[in-house]
Amino acid sequence: MRVFVTGASGWIGSAVLPELIAAGHQVVGLARTDASAAAVTAAGAEVLRGSLDDLDSLRTGAEHADAVVHLAFKHDFTDYAGAGRTERAAVTTMCDVLEGKAFLFASGVALLTPGRVATELDEHPMRGPDAPRGGAEELASQYTNRGVRTVSLRFAPTVHGAGDHGFIAELVRIARERGVSGFVGDGANRWPAVHRADAAALVRLALDHAPAGAAVHAVAEEGVPAREIAAAIGHGLGVPVAAAPVDDFGWIGRLFAADIPASSALTRKELGWTPTRPTLLEDLAAGHYFI
Ligand SMILES: NC(=O)c1ccc[n+]([C@@H]2O[C@H](COP(=O)([O-])OP(=O)(O)OC[C@H]3O[C@@H](n4cnc5c(N)ncnc54)[C@H](OP(=O)(O)O)[C@@H]3O)[C@@H](O)[C@H]2O)c1
Repeated sequence: MRVFVTGASGWIGSAVLPELIAAGHQVVGLARTDASAAAVTAAGAEVLRGSLDDLDSLRTGAEHADAVVHLAFKHDFTDYAGAGRTERAAVTTMCDVLEGKAFLFASGVALLTPGRVATELDEHPMRGPDAPRGGAEELASQYTNRGVRTVSLRFAPTVHGAGDHGFIAELVRIARERGVSGFVGDGANRWPAVHRADAAALVRLALDHAPAGAAVHAVAEEGVPAREIAAAIGHGLGVPVAAAPVDDFGWIGRLFAADIPASSALTRKELGWTPTRPTLLEDLAAGHYFI
């Protein structure tokens, strides 16, 4: 297939590109800067210059592809509403021209069903134009009824590995700054996790095999207790580990305090996905988060 990938230069996208190319797909990556274009080219993909704010570039990419893997997102937590509006416009623009083709898009398992294990069959609670991420899952489901093979790629809140700059890296930064590695409450709340390489392998399987309207869970570990994450960070930094108020964690606090376990049993069964890479605690023990 000819696959248009947005976010091709990102943490997950840069692992997805070689995975798709190795499977024989022809990949075109969206790039908004020279540096991103160089990374996409180096991975062996074609470059389409454009951005999430240039809807014509997204339409062009989608029109000339058999499938879209949409991973780009504005991770601006000071304007999360704006990021949601951008996401909604991007999804609409691409899905409008994808009848008979596939649209796979990044979503998350976080906050699906706090306090209980989320499954692929749980509908996403973020609905409507003003919802976080622009209510993208519900929006995409409307296109499923219009002949687009939409597939929601629900990533664990930590897609970890060497070079990660996401949530775990932020927790490490906060612990280093405060001189203590914290958790909220008793730290028994759980976070799902997946290694980046396993997540990328799942994106390829979903592209090739997931049915229209599916949600797939990129979750290798159902839930790692927050206090174990904090302990591993404390060990890696050589700082004490202790309970801390949620406000000590800034914008990430509410999420780090949440109990958000998620299953991938259906994903594994239906797509034959078997995660094989290091667990989150193994990755933290390997030391690369603390360099
Ligand atoms: N990493 C995780 O733990 C995790 C967990 C759950 C869900 N997700 C979701 O998975 C997707 C991929 O995440 P990621 O970790 O790979 O993110 P990332 O490393 O921050 O990469 C984001 C990608 O989006 C591109 N991008 C950002 N703003 C753009 C704009 N205005 N126009 C065009 N491209 C733009 C970036 O391009 P540049 O290279 O040019 O900056 C980059 O390729 C996102 O939707 C994210 O929210 C990630």
